Amino acid sequence: MKIGIIVGSTRPGRRSIVVAEWIKNIADQREGHEFILLDLLDYNLPHLDETIPAAMGKPYGHEHTRAWSESVASCDGFIIVTPEYNHSIPGVLKDALDYLFGEWHNKAIGFVGYGLLGGARAVEHLRTISAELMLADVRAQVALSLFADFVDMEILDPGDHHVGTANQMLDQLLGWSGALARLRESTADASSFIEA
Ligand SMILES: Cc1cc2nc3c(=O)[nH]c(=O)nc-3n(C[C@H](O)[C@H](O)[C@H](O)COP(=O)(O)O)c2cc1C
Repeated sequence: MKIGIIVGSTRPGRRSIVVAEWIKNIADQREGHEFILLDLLDYNLPHLDETIPAAMGKPYGHEHTRAWSESVASCDGFIIVTPEYNHSIPGVLKDALDYLFGEWHNKAIGFVGYGLLGGARAVEHLRTISAELMLADVRAQVALSLFADFVDMEILDPGDHHVGTANQMLDQLLGWSGALARLRESTADASSFIEA
């Protein structure tokens, strides 16, 4: 399986990149799978600027959309690393999800949240967004506390128990990604059973 780890914040001094590297290190210990970082900073997506919603199909009007589409389409599943901003997800992450549609369908997704309460409210929002994008969200989620899992709320130092949860999430994610890959193969046109 090829799993994209989406780095969900882009602000200067963001913690998301360190958290994403932490989960990637754990994931990379699994042989036979590929884990890649999809850093939203690299894609430099503006606020959604496509004339036609992705749900209406391609072609896309902009090169940045095509580049993002190609990367997402190449993955069998995803891990979103998200902070909590005002009880939800960063706007840049919402835009990145909104840019595409079919590229997300029938793939699995797991979450690593962080914040004062482990990013729990942000991840809950991601679960409802995932349903609309036909992303199958796994149950196990990593919830890192800014108080307990960061030294002085700055330097990542997660409790050991988070490694166990991360591996549970990875087990579920890889299992469902494999099952859904077979579903995508057996469905000539995955969009054929998607209604508006
Ligand atoms: C605009 C903004 C809103 C925030 N709102 C919340 C919040 O509602 N709940 C929370 O737990 N943390 C909140 N925080 C704290 C962030 O979770 C924390 O700063 C985190 O490190 C931000 O992620 P980043 O460093 O990757 O940008 C907020 C931070 C920012 C910048």
